[in-house]
Amino acid sequence: MNGPVLCVVGARPNFMKIAPILRAFAAHQPPIPALLVHTGQHYDQDMNDKLFVDLNLPRPDLNLEVGSGSHAVQTAEVMRRFEPAIDAHRPSCVLVVGDVNSTLACALVAAKKSVPVVHVEAGLRSFDRRMPEEINRVLTDQLADRLYTTERGALDHLLREGVAAERVCFVGNVMIDTLLACRERARSAAATLQAHGHDAARLAGAAGYGVVTLHRPSNVDDAATLQEVLETLSLVAERLPLVFALHPRTRANVERFGLGHLLDPARVTLLPPQGYLEMLGLMAGATVVLTDSGGLQEETTALGVPCLTMRENTERPITVDEGTNTMVGRDRAAILAGVDEILAGRGKRGRVPELWDGHAAERIAADLARWLS
Ligand code: UD1
Repeated sequence: MNGPVLCVVGARPNFMKIAPILRAFAAHQPPIPALLVHTGQHYDQDMNDKLFVDLNLPRPDLNLEVGSGSHAVQTAEVMRRFEPAIDAHRPSCVLVVGDVNSTLACALVAAKKSVPVVHVEAGLRSFDRRMPEEINRVLTDQLADRLYTTERGALDHLLREGVAAERVCFVGNVMIDTLLACRERARSAAATLQAHGHDAARLAGAAGYGVVTLHRPSNVDDAATLQEVLETLSLVAERLPLVFALHPRTRANVERFGLGHLLDPARVTLLPPQGYLEMLGLMAGATVVLTDSGGLQEETTALGVPCLTMRENTERPITVDEGTNTMVGRDRAAILAGVDEILAGRGKRGRVPELWDGHAAERIAADLARWLS
């Protein structure tokens, strides 16, 4: 094995995936040398710094500080700034996780420089090319030399796209490694509300509370759509109090479109983006989670908490087939019926999928060490 593994993170959902991988590389015998490169796609204190602390992530060895921009600008800027990192460090491979713009940008640079690309969370497909992440997934998998999957079905997608079976290795889910490692340290919902100056008693009713996160462009970038979504949430809030952690994109659009009045502050508690331990505590204690996030679909399945996913499709079907997830899109009747079912105690209990056992990163380390040698 020559040179370190260059491990790339860019945006919030990458951080919980890379943390257990870096730990497993350090614990491997002999240790697998690794450098952490942060592209800087996410940079806010709430979206970035706090998570690094919660997850015990080391400071990145390199920060490319690309910041926000259109997809083309952001992707191009990551590529431009990542190339010198490869030249300087001569890595044995570049390891990317997930499906954000930084994932594809760094994979493309590495592949063009004949540096092997390793993709963690390969083979997930929503089959919806309107999602920027779907394009990132398909292309990153085409570029990857070693592909680690979280569920068995991912292999079928990869085979259909011409990826050789021997490149693919089913290891389980590194996000769940992090969830299990942090579970004991999760912050209670009451403590989180209090920390933001809210009365925690409002969550203590018989129905409990629901947690909401929304940030997909398809839900929040269009004024009429966002209005419809918020009106539906206000109807849900009549049934149980909601805690809504607002992504910067969503907050900006709620303000820009003048829709803030749709959420009754007595029933919907708005919070800034939360740290990992806060979000984990909020989810673990929730009666229901309403979201369009990919990660939350998996985390709620691991926690056994019912999840209503406000999207038309999911790249994580195992959370529906085996876990606690139900796809509801923006269908108001389906959302309210789903909430009523859950409140009546008939929510999905589900089971934890195969190899979501807290040891996925160790399996990656063991396989990668073999593969690199
Ligand atoms: C990105 C990922 C998405 C992931 C999400 C998690 C892509 C294509 N999308 O979407 O898959 O689910 O992260 O959050 O890579 N902003 C800030 N502060 C920040 C970062 C962003 O205010 O630290 C604002 C900026 O106005 C920016 C907007 O959020 O323009 C969107 O950020 P961007 O990184 O482009 O995409 P996300 O919507 O965060």
